[in-house]
Amino acid sequence: MVKIAPSILSADFARFGEEIRAIDAAGCDYVHIDVMDGHFVPNLTFGPPIIAKLRPHTSKPFDVHLMINPAQPYLEEYANAGADIITVHAEADKHLDRSLQVIRSLGKKAGVSLNPATPESVLEYVLDKVDLILVMSVNPGFGGQSFIPSQLDKIRRIRKMIGDRPIELEVDGGVNADTISDVVAAGADVLVAGSAVFKGDDYAATIGALRSAV
Ligand code: DX5
Ligand code: ZN
Repeated sequence: MVKIAPSILSADFARFGEEIRAIDAAGCDYVHIDVMDGHFVPNLTFGPPIIAKLRPHTSKPFDVHLMINPAQPYLEEYANAGADIITVHAEADKHLDRSLQVIRSLGKKAGVSLNPATPESVLEYVLDKVDLILVMSVNPGFGGQSFIPSQLDKIRRIRKMIGDRPIELEVDGGVNADTISDVVAAGADVLVAGSAVFKGDDYAATIGALRSAV
């Protein structure tokens, strides 16, 4: 069964606690938290204090997607704020291998994300230090963009690279009831969905519809 990770980038920021409790009750697997710095990506979002305040509202894992450059100086703060998975971007990190080691040494799962134009070859020498690979199927920065079809091939290639390693393959951007089956068929097992989940009022129905579209 695939995991669904609603991105709270599309939640109502004025009712954050309530929104987190609602996606938990609706059966999400992870809570996907998009951290943006206005430098690596053209948008600004959440710092560690906000994540720490959200933490008591659910026991579901916090899947923290860092779209910040540099990420390394902030890893410990995000770990202390309550992240369970911390994902850094290969493009934003001069020392990816070291960042992944730091995340694991903080007792967290280590993720690496690739922008649409980044080839999967950057993963080759870090596969044994990674718990999750996040393929961006839109250019990061905003919710509600269209899925970039060329990423399906990348997902297939990464699934082959993973082999029998215990690495989750997550896909983020433009995932909805129309695109999810192709993404899962290509090899993804964790699906981020922002606008697809939060656009309606009945989150359980939307998450259910995503699962049944697989
Ligand atoms: C984009 C973020 C995504 C975004 C996805 O930079 O990483 O997590 O919220 O939004 P949708 O699902 O609307 O494409
Ligand atoms: Zn994301």
